[in-house]
Amino acid sequence: MDYEEKGLKTNPVTEAFTELAPSYKSTMDQELYQFWGIHYMEFVEKMVTMTAIKPGEKVLDIATGTAVIPLKLKSVMGTQDPIVGLDITPAMLAEGRKDIAKCGRGSAINLVCASAMCMPFVDRSFQVVICGLGTHHMDVPQMLSEAKRILVDSGRLAICDVCATPFWRSPIGRITLWLLLRMYGIANSAARSKAEIEAFKNVRTAREWSEILKDFGFRKIEMDVVNPRFPWFPGGMTLTAEVSA
Ligand SMILES: C[S@@+](CC[C@H](N)C(=O)[O-])C[C@H]1O[C@@H](n2cnc3c(N)ncnc32)[C@H](O)[C@@H]1O
Repeated sequence: MDYEEKGLKTNPVTEAFTELAPSYKSTMDQELYQFWGIHYMEFVEKMVTMTAIKPGEKVLDIATGTAVIPLKLKSVMGTQDPIVGLDITPAMLAEGRKDIAKCGRGSAINLVCASAMCMPFVDRSFQVVICGLGTHHMDVPQMLSEAKRILVDSGRLAICDVCATPFWRSPIGRITLWLLLRMYGIANSAARSKAEIEAFKNVRTAREWSEILKDFGFRKIEMDVVNPRFPWFPGGMTLTAEVSA
């Protein structure tokens, strides 16, 4: 039984993404262009390229949202191997299911409503775990512990998300960010503002990511950082790592 069947408890994240779901892709396109000067689909293509899936690999996309990453993966992989997408917000998955149906890929992408903090999969069941723009909403150590548990030995992790900049670490930076997000909440969405303020504590610098991955026994860590357009915007980070055998 998953979250949808049990009746999901709402929290700031599910509230924010339930509200955002119908306009998710256009909002992301606008925000990513504003932050990093790239369009949302360019971001998705980058994720797919860096993940370098091989035929036969079992892939899990956590925080899959509207399933844009699994759909893109399917279109480039051209294989029948199923992909699993997991997300905590039923409304995001509902949008994803509509797009999957339109593409006729119903049997190839399985969507599961659950938390990445406690994934309903047996140990060592995936070769690849991906997460795009989701880790800042999660307790990262708990997510990494779960990712490590469900990955096979030498399985790969690919993450793309926002990262903290030096400005974010300064007291003045923290106050500025809090004020900007409160203003965003007043002008746009209170739920989104609350979810992003709660996410502050999870946003790490690239160096902090490298350290925590090593602590969890990941190796072959490769990272790429995109500088934000303004100091108060989040930086962007892509990383790949492998579970130690
Ligand atoms: C910004 S969206 C990213 C969606 C998609 N990965 C993409 O790149 O477009 C963040 C997603 O993370 C999901 N999320 C947040 N916390 C989660 C958790 N603990 N477990 C699973 N999904 C979570 C939200 O519901 C939302 O759909």
